[in-house]
Amino acid sequence: MTHTIRKATTDDAGPLAALAAVTFPLACPPSSSPADIAAHLANTLSEEHFRGYLADPDVTILVIDADGQLNGYSLIVDRPAADPDVASALALLPSVEISKCYVHPDYHGLGAAAELMQASLHAAAAAGGAGAWLGVNSQNARAIRFYEKSGFRKVGTKSFRLGSTMEHDFVLERALS
Ligand SMILES: CC(C)(COP(=O)(O)OP(=O)(O)OC[C@H]1O[C@@H](n2cnc3c(N)ncnc32)[C@H](O)[C@@H]1OP(=O)(O)O)[C@@H](O)C(=O)NCCC(=O)NCCS
Repeated sequence: MTHTIRKATTDDAGPLAALAAVTFPLACPPSSSPADIAAHLANTLSEEHFRGYLADPDVTILVIDADGQLNGYSLIVDRPAADPDVASALALLPSVEISKCYVHPDYHGLGAAAELMQASLHAAAAAGGAGAWLGVNSQNARAIRFYEKSGFRKVGTKSFRLGSTMEHDFVLERALS
């Protein structure tokens, strides 16, 4: 099956929420409760939320489109980091956040995520970023390895609340050319 990487449109909001429901749990530590994961999906990754992200001028969503089916997405945020732990860790300013990078499990290990990351880094550079940053759960070994392969290095830590649990994220950064 062939695929393309393109900017998402408002028509993608529903499929993006469906993809997020499959992929977000994969980024959570095994100890995460199903109730906390469901609440996070409802509170930040519903179709309505994606409509909001798509209407936000600071946000770009890229999707992997395989013959009309969405198999991955990234969400790129072009505004200064609000979290003080992140802001103090970043050295390459202005920095654009790769806020989400999620690929359907059927497409893991096939190079699609690397293509999505390359397109995301291009978008971040086009937005004027000197650097790109992201947060990744400290237990998400696969994603950390993937980000290291994509040129990111750990520069700090931050906290991420998932329901009643405070999760620990690594803050990773890389230069943009
Ligand atoms: C993160 C993600 C986009 C990476 O895409 P991918 O296609 O899986 O990435 P790749 O296969 O190119 O790279 C993964 C690397 O991790 C390695 N890996 C896999 N499982 C691992 C583990 N348990 N521990 C350490 N490394 C692991 C792989 O061997 C590979 O490294 P290698 O190429 O040196 O062998 C994808 O796995 C994904 O969407 N995961 C679920 C959602 C998620 O966690 N997103 C990130 C949120 S911050």
